[in-house]
Amino acid sequence: MRLDKLISDCGVATRKEAASAVRAGQATVNGNVVREPDRKVDPGLDAVVFRGIPLVYRRFVYVMLNKPTGYVSATDDRSLPYVLELLPPEYRKRGLFPVGRLDRDTTGLLVMTDDGQTAHRALSPRRHVEKVYSFTCIAPLPLDAEAAFADGITLGDETCKPALLKPASDRLSGTVTLTEGKYHQIKRMFERLGNKITSLKRETFAGIALDPALAPGEWRELTERETETLLSAAGTDKPE
Ligand code: URA
Repeated sequence: MRLDKLISDCGVATRKEAASAVRAGQATVNGNVVREPDRKVDPGLDAVVFRGIPLVYRRFVYVMLNKPTGYVSATDDRSLPYVLELLPPEYRKRGLFPVGRLDRDTTGLLVMTDDGQTAHRALSPRRHVEKVYSFTCIAPLPLDAEAAFADGITLGDETCKPALLKPASDRLSGTVTLTEGKYHQIKRMFERLGNKITSLKRETFAGIALDPALAPGEWRELTERETETLLSAAGTDKPE
């Protein structure tokens, strides 16, 4: 791989910045200054130091975003704000995309990555990856609502998998845990009970909790432990 690409893949500079910094003598490969941005390096073998910092090459990047309302879960959109706009250009250039979708008015945890296999498997219905949402609704939930969610609510000609509904004492708010992701699923489940969601926020995905320090629109990379949790939920922590 090219030296400037390796540097920008590490997230420390854009490709253009990396190329000019390399020309200016700010990178070494195995202890020797290299001024050619297109010099071929092996990320597994060559020790690259950029602006004095040894680089650790990462094949994939995993980010958590606290999605604000009003953004679509897409990598591009002609007319609406989209979540990739909230990340710096280096991440967009890497080809990060959201793992699944939240509705435009849903807030909370959205994981983004360039690891297609993990994303695909984490979303596979076979994996039963858990997602916990907090909600508010327009009318108090009836006392049999928990049982209806546990039995599997029917939406059109599909029956949902059992879901865990935990209303708060006011029965106007609470959490729902799903292991699948049908279109507008929670909103449609509430409508089926004659109710209506007034706010929805994803709190956890695949065992990873939204960092409370992130304000809406803020993001950070997953920690090593969170990444391991995601890979293990998706089954990509071990070869098939
Ligand atoms: N269920 C919904 O209705 N909307 C979401 O964004 C996520 C789950």
